[in-house]
Amino acid sequence: MIIAIDGQAGSGKGTLAKGIAKYFNFAYLDTGIIYRALGYKAIQKNIDLHDEGALAELAKSLDEKEFKNSVLRSEEVANYASIVSQYGKVREALLDYQRHFAENPPDGVKGAVLDGRDIGTTICPEANVKIFVIASVEERARRRIRDLQIREISHDADQILAEIKERDSRDAGRAESPMKAAADAWILDTTNMDINEVLLAALNYIQQNA
Ligand code: DC
Repeated sequence: MIIAIDGQAGSGKGTLAKGIAKYFNFAYLDTGIIYRALGYKAIQKNIDLHDEGALAELAKSLDEKEFKNSVLRSEEVANYASIVSQYGKVREALLDYQRHFAENPPDGVKGAVLDGRDIGTTICPEANVKIFVIASVEERARRRIRDLQIREISHDADQILAEIKERDSRDAGRAESPMKAAADAWILDTTNMDINEVLLAALNYIQQNA
């Protein structure tokens, strides 16, 4: 069983995907962390974020252990990820790892939940269930700001909103596997929903459609 959760930055797709995986005891892969780890590693190694060939080589050298660094969660690294993920050779280099995870989830569990931008369209077009999670840009900025406040991280609210808009347009506008709902995906708008409502709605949909 493969469940594909795609959607916009800050839409709540990660929290939802984790909740679904926990509920069904399925494996969970946050594919955004792979692009974040790549962007971060490129900066560490002084590799230009637009050098497609060097980034594709670097992508092949990534190890799962590198996905655990908490610095990858920062807005700065999210922006690096949004840049490096534009490139076809980079996406190609990371495709097998993601597909293999979906088809052979670790620990012998019976299914996998992947979240990202192109799971339903490119990585797992045959997924049993596809959900595309959206929310208004203002609401997504509010959630991000609330999260930063809780973690006591200083921030500029206008800048957060501007960065989310920039990432949306880069993720949706790129030529290679742009962020896009698959034709057979269910669109879940979480603008006026809390985390529990989102999880309940998704579980309901999965139970009726898987
Ligand atoms: O889901 P996230 O915010 O951690 O993703 C960070 C960036 O990585 C996002 O701006 C676009 C890119 N990404 C992608 O291109 N494809 C994916 N499957 C996941 C993330």
